[in-house]
Parts: sequence; structure tokens; C-alpha cells
Amino acid sequence: MDLRKVFSSSIGSKFLIALTGLFLLIFLVAHLAGNLLFIAGPDAFNEYSHKLVSNPLVYVAELGLLAIFALHIVKTVGLVVDSYAARPQRYAKRKWAKSKNDRSRKSVSSSTMILTGTITLLFVVTHLLTFKFGAYYETSAGIRDLYRLQLTVFSNPGYVAFYVVAMGVIVFHLWHGASSAAQSFGVNSPTWSPRLLWIGRGLAVIIGLGFAILPIYTFLLNTPPRGVISI
Ligand code: HEM
Repeated sequence: MDLRKVFSSSIGSKFLIALTGLFLLIFLVAHLAGNLLFIAGPDAFNEYSHKLVSNPLVYVAELGLLAIFALHIVKTVGLVVDSYAARPQRYAKRKWAKSKNDRSRKSVSSSTMILTGTITLLFVVTHLLTFKFGAYYETSAGIRDLYRLQLTVFSNPGYVAFYVVAMGVIVFHLWHGASSAAQSFGVNSPTWSPRLLWIGRGLAVIIGLGFAILPIYTFLLNTPPRGVISI
């Protein structure tokens, strides 16, 4: 069997998009768990991130993540280009799905997957410039003070709003991704398919809410309520 042919076919591409999407979801769960340590305070947060970046395996993990992210995008762009090539004349009028069983028509969310995916990509680039390649503060112990960076970034309400809106877009992308992935993995069993779908959607909401809480929490830490005197 020629694997290259399998993975360049439409079904193979959809499978790879779903598989890489699943890895990205796992990354997000781990990233959220690490970021929630922010609530535990500066020492816990900075020591955790220092341990992470000083492990030589982090470079392998980062390269792997980059490759998975790139494959997810390249395969999606390939599918879109192919579907346009197969249908050079666009329909004069779009028809939206009216019911769940109306599979021949486009659903609102599948049409916006490309848009929400592009916004997610732009968010990730901005996010890396802000945090990974952002200002370098140091703690008295001589390690990077990411806690201070996060406090500084989210003292700006514009950044907080940007993150909260971006998380809404990402939830939308993951929510729809869950149903495409459940179909692509071929688990159309009447008991498992809906369960997996709802596990995926549940994770989408948990990830979105978890990440949206952090900028708001950080902003509120910066601005204690009136009447409270911090020593
Ligand atoms: C409140 C939301 C978030 C906060 C506070 C946050 C915080 C951070 C911080 C502090 C880093 C730098 C880690 C380091 O250099 O040691 C980082 C890296 C990163 N973040 Fe986030 N993050 C958030 C949401 C997200 C989301 C939603 C995504 C993806 C859609 C994401 C993707 C990444 C990636 C890819 C890296 C680089 C990882 C690496 O190179 O090891 N983050 N984030």
C-alpha cells in the first residue's frame, strides 16, 4: 500500500487533519493545566516553566508541535484548493443546512472553519511574540519571571479583551472540529460516536473557559478592589 497516496486522498487528508487536531487538543489541555499554576502564585508558576524550558527534550517537543501545526494547516489548505478546483464556478447562492440530517448542504460552522482557523493562527503568532519571545524579566533566583510578564501584559484591558474574544473563536473551531474528527475516525458506532463527540465538545468548552478566565483573573490581580490596601 502506498501510504503517500492514502494520505493525499481526500479521506486520508481528513484523517490527518483530525489526527493532528487531536494532538493540538492534547497540547492545549497540557498548556492550560500548566498555565493554571499562575493562580498558585509566582514561585510555582516560574519554577514550573523554568523546569519545562530547561529540559533538553523541550526542543524535540517544540519541533514536533510545529510540524503537527504545519501539517494541520497544509492539509486543510490542500482540501480547500481541491474542492475549489473540482467546482470552479461558485454557487450563485449558498444553501445552508436546515437540519442535522441535511448532509448535502454546507453547515454555517463548516464554512467558517477556515476563518476561525486563520484567526487562531494569527492569535498563536501574536501570542508567541508576546510571551515566548516577549520581554525578559528575571526573578531574584535568576530564572525567567513569566509571572511578571503575564501581570504586565494583562494589565492592559485591550489585551484581556483580545484574549477573551480569541478564546471564543477557538472554542468555535474546536467545537466543530470535534464533530468532523468523530466522523473522520470512522467511529460511527451509535453508542461511541455521540459519546466521543460530546467529550470533544466538552473539552472545547473547558479549554475555552479555562483560558478565558486567566487574562480576566490576572487583570483583577493588577487592580484590587477599592478600599483594599495591599501591603
Ligand atoms: C490565557 C491564555 C494563555 C496564556 C496566559 C498563555 C501563556 C503562555 C506562556 C506564558 C507561554 C510561554 C512559555 C515559555 O516560553 O516558557 C506560552 C507559550 C505558548 N502558547 Fe500559550 N497561553 C495561553 C493560551 C494559548 C492558546 C489558546 C494557544 C493555542 C491556541 C497557545 C499556544 C502556545 C504555544 C504554541 C506556545 C509555545 C510553546 C513552546 O514553544 O513550548 N497558548 N503560552
